[in-house]
Amino acid sequence: MDSPILQVQSLIKQFRQSDSVITAVNRVNFTVESGEFVAIVGASGSGKSTFLQLCAGLMTPNSGSIKILGQEITELSPDKLAQFRGRFLGMIFQKHNLIPQLTAKENIEIPAIMMDKAPSSYEHSFMKLVEALKIKDRLHHLPSELSGGQQQRVAIARALMNRPQILFADEPTGNLDRANADEVLSLLLKMQKDFNQTLIMVTHDESIAQRADRIFKMEDGCLSQISH
Ligand SMILES: Nc1ncnc2c1ncn2[C@@H]1O[C@H](COP(=O)(O)OP(=O)(O)OP(=O)(O)O)[C@@H](O)[C@H]1O
Ligand SMILES: [Mg+2]
Repeated sequence: MDSPILQVQSLIKQFRQSDSVITAVNRVNFTVESGEFVAIVGASGSGKSTFLQLCAGLMTPNSGSIKILGQEITELSPDKLAQFRGRFLGMIFQKHNLIPQLTAKENIEIPAIMMDKAPSSYEHSFMKLVEALKIKDRLHHLPSELSGGQQQRVAIARALMNRPQILFADEPTGNLDRANADEVLSLLLKMQKDFNQTLIMVTHDESIAQRADRIFKMEDGCLSQISH
């Protein structure tokens, strides 16, 4: 069997606030196989977003190991980590984090530009993506001119732009109504199948979690598997 695509061991992240310390992620072990869809549920403040951002290399842990595709990402220099993220990882944030001064199109193109891709090399996949996400007619608008749901779709397109091997998604359907949430989930699952993408998703939505291969629960910074 192939080695896991993501292997987290004894991961700890603490935040200091004046004289108290919050352990947001508390000695977490977590292994994901290539192509899996894993859902993470848990109460507000339990550490889900912190954990996802650590795994995506967007935050530095206090201690512990994060191996992705065999690479220990906690040992990479900032430059090498940025390159690694651009090549292999995608992130959909809980708050979409679009750049307000850039149009939808420009926001979606950021990952491709960061990887020095020529527009002709991604034009086709770009169009397919924006058609599937139903934002083709909103491409020249600024984020402030889009609805919450449209902003979220733009953020999803941006995360998928480089066809990441692992997509980390933090409440990707949180801003969407039922019908739109189901449609976006279907698209993410189609990408997962078509490109053998690994999907790690934080969600409050029980019906979405139930469709995952495995469900984990975060409680006070501790992660445990609760299904399969
Ligand atoms: N940058 C930070 N500085 C200080 N404390 C933080 C920081 N980020 C998160 N925390 C704290 O860490 C804990 C976990 O936060 P986190 O955002 O990971 O929770 P969550 O499970 O994603 O919650 P929600 O479901 O509300 O999004 C909380 O107590 C939070 O206040
Ligand atoms: Mg969160």
